[in-house]
Amino acid sequence: MTSQTIAVASDHGGVELKQALCEFLAERGIEVLDLGTQPGESVDYPDYADKLAQALADGRAQRGVLVCGSGIGISIAANRHRHIRAALIHDAYGARMCRQHNDANVIVFGGRTTGVEVARDCLGIFLDTEFEGGRHARRVAKLGGEPGCC
Ligand code: RB5
Repeated sequence: MTSQTIAVASDHGGVELKQALCEFLAERGIEVLDLGTQPGESVDYPDYADKLAQALADGRAQRGVLVCGSGIGISIAANRHRHIRAALIHDAYGARMCRQHNDANVIVFGGRTTGVEVARDCLGIFLDTEFEGGRHARRVAKLGGEPGCC
């Protein structure tokens, strides 16, 4: 992966995992844009998906990480934005496929369903795996976003 800023956001259900993944990104020397929330706040996950989508639209970050309790609500909210291809990931296979085949620009985790070590592994794979293009580019184009933009 070339030098990028990664935007990170969560609701209260994902805040501990979000903090751990910010540390993981910092350990790798990656610039992190932490859009919140912070521990102790109870917030609404669509607001945090929207903040992250805006950061990617503005060019403040090139990819993103979202976390809520299950990962479900925040991924639904993120995917309402045309430029977002958010993948809810539970394992290494999914982390690799969402990049190779789907050109996902946002990885999503459930803070109450996925442990820190699994999430770290998956995030590393997400960052290090390239989109394969070819027939997958045609399919991603049909999603209406811009394949290969990030
Ligand atoms: C918050 O309690 C929880 O509903 C939220 O984090 C998420 O799991 C929704 O999909």
